[in-house]
Amino acid sequence: MAEERILDAQKSEFEGEDSEQAIRPQSLKEYIGQDALKANLNVYIQAARSRNEVLDHVLLYGPPGLGKTTLAMIIANEMKGNLVTASGPAIQRSGDLAAILSTLEAGDVLFIDEIHRIPRQIEEILYPAMEDFFLDIVVGKEGTTAHSIRLPLPPFTLVGATTRAGDLSAPLRDRFGIVSALEFYTTQELEKIVSRTASILGCEMEDEAVHEVALRSRGTPRIANRMLRRIRDFAQVYNDGLVTKEVAQDSLRRLSIDELGLDQVDRKFLEGIIYRFNGGPVGLESLASSIGEDATTLEDMYEPYLLQIGLINRTPRGRMVTAKAYQHLNIPVPESYAQSITNQEEQN
Ligand SMILES: Nc1ncnc2c1ncn2[C@@H]1O[C@H](COP(=O)(O)OP(=O)(O)OP(=O)(O)O)[C@@H](O)[C@H]1O
Ligand SMILES: [Mg+2]
Repeated sequence: MAEERILDAQKSEFEGEDSEQAIRPQSLKEYIGQDALKANLNVYIQAARSRNEVLDHVLLYGPPGLGKTTLAMIIANEMKGNLVTASGPAIQRSGDLAAILSTLEAGDVLFIDEIHRIPRQIEEILYPAMEDFFLDIVVGKEGTTAHSIRLPLPPFTLVGATTRAGDLSAPLRDRFGIVSALEFYTTQELEKIVSRTASILGCEMEDEAVHEVALRSRGTPRIANRMLRRIRDFAQVYNDGLVTKEVAQDSLRRLSIDELGLDQVDRKFLEGIIYRFNGGPVGLESLASSIGEDATTLEDMYEPYLLQIGLINRTPRGRMVTAKAYQHLNIPVPESYAQSITNQEEQN
């Protein structure tokens, strides 16, 4: 039952709303930003294709919504291979993984999302599969007739995606020939993404409105596209569909998204450190329980951007807000905090 739900959830990501499919870039050319990664990947793809080989295994890591799944689909398209999708949380027994591997055909691209969630012992099945295209499986009864048999696999490319590269075991990480980090997008890149999505959705937008959405989407295409859909709704109801800067700003205010793109959880995160822990340092777990949020969610979805724009720092003793965070929230920087910052800086 649980498995079915996971499969359904996966399916919806790929086959979901028509418009979701339509706005996902299908080729490297259409994929905006991540220029260094894209240029290298383009070389590896061309080289593999001209040698008539499969592409080496690829590991993509970075915060949610930056385009890992999209890139996996593009790799399959560019390599003219079929995309087979799986996800770490759904691979919990060796049989789950063996079942997936044994259906692969030559040239397939196997995409495993959240690959860090595969348990360690099961992960070991991947090693010979990745290195030598073999599947070692144990058959028979434990202690008596058990023995392992080796099944050859067709050449395939594994594309693994994870938001937490640090949670991956070293032996698994080392078996990927191509390891790439996705970065937050620049405002200019996000403007291109917003314009592209708007034109696919048939949504008319003024340049200033495009800029406004790009500025507030936390460097993340998924957030930009999601905000755009909501703004389009407001524009349709209040402004005959035209998205002006005012419509964009007004909609974002109604969605409680501020000038930096922060939402209520971000603000709770910052205010929690300020009011409950005197600005920090505080451990993530303590902070999470004091504001009633899940620590993993905070770490994966919220913290990376707050760090990126310099509103928090990670120190060996925990998270601290910066002076910029106080300014952004219009909270005066307390004396005691200013003093502790000076001490921290002297220590570092
Ligand atoms: N480079 C890009 N250019 C244009 N659109 C993009 C780009 N990257 C991502 N998108 C859009 O952003 C959305 C999110 O991308 P995607 O699902 O690939 O993110 P992800 O990294 O797999 O996220 P998660 O870690 O949550 O699975 C998609 O709808 C896609 O259309
Ligand atoms: Mg994804």
